[in-house]
Amino acid sequence: MQSLSERTAGFTDSVIRRMTRVSMQYGAVNLSQGFPDFEPPKEILDRMAQVAYEDFHQYSITWGSQNFREALAAKQSRCMGRKIDPNTEIVTTCGSTEAMMAAMMTVTNPGDKVIIFSPFYENYGADTILSGAEPIYVPLVPPDFHFDPALLEDAFRQHPKAMILCNPSNPCGKVFTREELEFIATLAEKYDTYVITDEVYEHIVYAPHKHTYFATLSGMWERTLSCSSLSKTYSITGWRLGYIIAPPNIIDRAKKVHDFLTVGAAAPLQEAVVTGLKFGPGYYDDLLAKYTHKKELFLKGLDELNITHTDPEGAYYVLLDISEFGYESDLEFCEDLAHYAGVGAVPGSSFFREPVNHLIRLHFAKKDETLLEALNRLEGLRTKIKPKK
Ligand SMILES: Cc1ncc(COP(=O)(O)O)c(C=O)c1O
Repeated sequence: MQSLSERTAGFTDSVIRRMTRVSMQYGAVNLSQGFPDFEPPKEILDRMAQVAYEDFHQYSITWGSQNFREALAAKQSRCMGRKIDPNTEIVTTCGSTEAMMAAMMTVTNPGDKVIIFSPFYENYGADTILSGAEPIYVPLVPPDFHFDPALLEDAFRQHPKAMILCNPSNPCGKVFTREELEFIATLAEKYDTYVITDEVYEHIVYAPHKHTYFATLSGMWERTLSCSSLSKTYSITGWRLGYIIAPPNIIDRAKKVHDFLTVGAAAPLQEAVVTGLKFGPGYYDDLLAKYTHKKELFLKGLDELNITHTDPEGAYYVLLDISEFGYESDLEFCEDLAHYAGVGAVPGSSFFREPVNHLIRLHFAKKDETLLEALNRLEGLRTKIKPKK
């Protein structure tokens, strides 16, 4: 038999999703894969129940149902401060995951270079491989995850076709400042590079930090594909709803890529979430207040346990420093953590291009009682997991 695809031969399991399976195996509190254990907003669920008996069971328009795109355009026009056309500037996708893949395939040819900051959300590596592009990694340096402007310009000098910008960033929680984004914009303009953003945490940005939509910077609308999702904003990661917003010439191509990839996102779910897209600003304030509370609760607990950790500016992840345990493999540490302490985490190395193995990622998108249970289990960590050295 002929061998299978060389392009995908090097793929390993997603480490994040693997750690969910490890957590289940040991009955661990799963703080690895980033999804909430609390209910989505009731209004959306009520509408979902009604939609089951309405006429939304067949394919919607491939680039998104009219109702969904109109409601999304109204919301994002408000958030981004520019009028988004629901017909020509939006493609609805199966989550931001598909949005990113479709954006990559819209922009790149095999062999094109794409800049990615490291640490990065693990799908970006696979996205570049699947689209035949070559990543150029530029480090975000811990503990504050700044980038070196000279190194970034070196990467741009290699004439990349695109740059991927995850803001707020998973896993490091960085929220890029306006100055940083303006610097990136200058380079994107100077080296004629597209920017593909991943802004799934756009509404989870802790004060005093502020989210700036890259597409709204001067001159950037024309070259930016803004990808985002409803997964995190409405606590519906299983609904698989996301989108690309970009100028009509880009969206026109992205619509075709999306059509051949998936045809469309689930029609009844697009309809049900319109209720959520129409929520007023109060909803987003409450969402942020909820995550601010969870962040404070969880980080305070980690402080009380004397565990060194990052303080995220956005999103809902925290990186814990496990240097003191002396493990050579952070994956092995995470397996032991699930086994002996009963808490599921993701090895930091799965996010870094650089040889970093002293960090693990936990998330706090969980009910307070789940977070308290995890903290409880982390108590006495140093006796449950013996240092290797
Ligand atoms: C940065 C980032 N992008 C995309 C996703 C996936 O989003 P979606 O559920 O919309 O596919 C995640 C999920 O954790 C994420 O953290």
